[in-house]
Amino acid sequence: MTTPETTSPAVPAAAEPASDPWRPRGRAVPRAPRAVRALLPGPSPERVSDVPADIAMMSDIRVARTLVGPPFPVSPLASKRWLVRERAFVTALFAAYAEGTFRPAACYPFTVLRERLPDSTEEYVGQVTVMYAGDGETRRTPVNETWEEWRTRTKVFEIGAALRPEWHRKGLATAAVRVAMHDWAIPQMGCTELRAECLASNIGSVKIWQKYGFVEDPEFRTEVQIFEAKGAGSSRAAC
Ligand SMILES: CC(C)(COP(=O)(O)OP(=O)(O)OC[C@H]1O[C@@H](n2cnc3c(N)ncnc32)[C@H](O)[C@@H]1OP(=O)(O)O)[C@@H](O)C(=O)NCCC(=O)NCCS
Repeated sequence: MTTPETTSPAVPAAAEPASDPWRPRGRAVPRAPRAVRALLPGPSPERVSDVPADIAMMSDIRVARTLVGPPFPVSPLASKRWLVRERAFVTALFAAYAEGTFRPAACYPFTVLRERLPDSTEEYVGQVTVMYAGDGETRRTPVNETWEEWRTRTKVFEIGAALRPEWHRKGLATAAVRVAMHDWAIPQMGCTELRAECLASNIGSVKIWQKYGFVEDPEFRTEVQIFEAKGAGSSRAAC
């Protein structure tokens, strides 16, 4: 992924823990789309304080068994590395927004959904991610001409969701995915092509993608080996 260089960040690196790291200063800094804020208060970038909740969710077998990766149980080091990477993107993005030098965005900065508790603290609920699927992938859809100055034609994006089991089947992922796609990925990231990978047996996930018009691509259908710790065996995965 490429992110434009920024020289003097007008927005400091996201402060820990609770104050909104994207609080607007000077020029408009992006905020969570209104629909996300209405859905659950406090959707935001990853915070260092999210690591334990993130590890707990990803290490819960009810979540892990539906995910082809990451390894199980999740290593705290891997989770921290991921968080550091995410925060670097988000910090650069907000700084550049404030300076007016960076558009469109290179990542979805409002990954984490949180519940606001009566005492005003926030609890991690889960995440929706949108990111580059990696270099070397061939896009099948044309890219809007105006986005060409900052990225190649060979990159496609991938979307995924994972929620703490207590939050499953409440319509949350359906709503949060719509917001991530329509309020951010398409207008802010210039996405013209999104992929989602899931096990064919993951009915909740399959339903969400189908609802939004994703169609299974036979070219990406594959048998995956499930880690022994996740129950072993093989399963069909598709994009
Ligand atoms: C997959 C996941 C993100 C779905 O989130 P969710 O908020 O529970 O989904 P929704 O409540 O929006 O449900 C979407 C649809 O799937 C159905 N559904 C959800 N979970 C289901 C399940 N386990 N079995 C059958 N149907 C299910 C819902 O009833 C709903 O159908 P409807 O629109 O016809 O009413 C969530 O279950 C999860 O975090 N799972 C673990 C991680 C994971 O599998 N991530 C996806 C990897 S691609």
